[in-house]
Amino acid sequence: MAKCAILYKSKYGSTRQYAEWIAEETQGDLFVLPKVTAAQLADYETLIIGGGLYAGQVSGISFLKKNFEALKTKKLIVFSVGASFDNEETVEKMKKENFPPEMWNSITFFHLHGALNYSAMNFFDRTLMKILVSSFKKKPPEERNAQMQYMIDTFGQNTISLNRDFIKPIVEAAKN
Ligand SMILES: Cc1cc2nc3c(=O)[nH]c(=O)nc-3n(C[C@H](O)[C@H](O)[C@H](O)COP(=O)(O)O)c2cc1C
Repeated sequence: MAKCAILYKSKYGSTRQYAEWIAEETQGDLFVLPKVTAAQLADYETLIIGGGLYAGQVSGISFLKKNFEALKTKKLIVFSVGASFDNEETVEKMKKENFPPEMWNSITFFHLHGALNYSAMNFFDRTLMKILVSSFKKKPPEERNAQMQYMIDTFGQNTISLNRDFIKPIVEAAKN
């Protein structure tokens, strides 16, 4: 397998755990964003960049956007980690809301379902979650999607939904 660098930004640990599993399976090197420079990545052929999703934004990807010209000849894989389920709609939304169209064809995108750890959340994040879930509750049940219902049902509980199998498509993409 080509030499891999796994770069990640994680607030509550879900992305870190996935990045560590990916590094084990690809025998890649781990880097924590934003403490990385493009020059440090010169010898890597594959970059796997992961970040937690917060209000639809993937943490840490400003590094890739700023250094795209220098990095675009490498194999680029991006994964988001969030409460959203992994499906085509989530991946498309993440791609379109976080990257300009000229980058779409140069990157392979993935989304991994992450934990929601209410007991670790700071006051600000817990308040944001409360506002978000209240807005879902105001919708009539027939207008809620599965994601909204899941957030309502699990509000206040720690959901541990990390699964090592979820990284398989990313490891495969890094190999091919
Ligand atoms: C304030 C806040 C906003 C969030 N916004 C989203 C979101 O827009 N989409 C999503 O799928 N998950 C969202 N989440 C869930 C996180 O992405 C999820 O907990 C993820 O596992 C965090 O990864 P990390 O621990 O590596 O930072 C949000 C969580 C918090 C606390």
